[in-house]
Amino acid sequence: MATNITWHPSLSRRERNEFRGQKGFTLWFTGLSASGKSTVATALEQHLLHLGLAAYRLDGDNVRFGLNKDLGFSEADRNENIRRIGEVAKLFADSATIALTSFISPFRADRQLARDLHAKSGTSEGDEPIPFVEVYVDVPIAVAEQRDPKGLYKKARAGEIKEFTGISSPYEAPDKPEIVIKTHESSVEECVAQIVKWLEEKELIP
Ligand code: PPS
Repeated sequence: MATNITWHPSLSRRERNEFRGQKGFTLWFTGLSASGKSTVATALEQHLLHLGLAAYRLDGDNVRFGLNKDLGFSEADRNENIRRIGEVAKLFADSATIALTSFISPFRADRQLARDLHAKSGTSEGDEPIPFVEVYVDVPIAVAEQRDPKGLYKKARAGEIKEFTGISSPYEAPDKPEIVIKTHESSVEECVAQIVKWLEEKELIP
């Protein structure tokens, strides 16, 4: 725990958003492995970039090659994984960027913590809390297991992977996500359009 540290005030978020000509916020995708989180988040990131908006996606597998390479899949490590990603996403959003995160983030309390970090982020006068939009990629486990693009469900069923989400480690579905998408009923393009429509209605994007 660090001591003798002082919070330095900086440019207000409102000013940064105005300079950049866009609002910063976080789109937090959550769902089982192979639910389609990364596929939809990547397509949405491309769509936002084509609109001329700054957007950046943080991905579960990728972040574990660097920032979180010291973490495994125990409950404690997943807690820390999501805490760090919550902090990083908040910094991106604070910089007037659209942060997209695609992590299983299986525990409700961890997602709530990420949401709270955004709500309580250091504000200057006139600053609103950073918007946090939870997108639940709601796909039955049977569908995810049938897809099994990386062969992980097969390995988990064979006992070769311990603590695999949905098989030997829990997934707690969100109670009140802002958006629910179903990649087994809608195409990737339809899911992207659904999210874009929601963001336009809430005036988070032009
Ligand atoms: S978590 O639960 O949010 O901390 O997980 P995340 O950082 O998103 O990492 C999930 C990806 O790691 C691979 N993988 C596992 N997933 C779940 N359980 C276990 N035990 C596991 N081991 C490896 C897997 O490729 C996940 O990627 P996605 O894209 O979700 O399939």
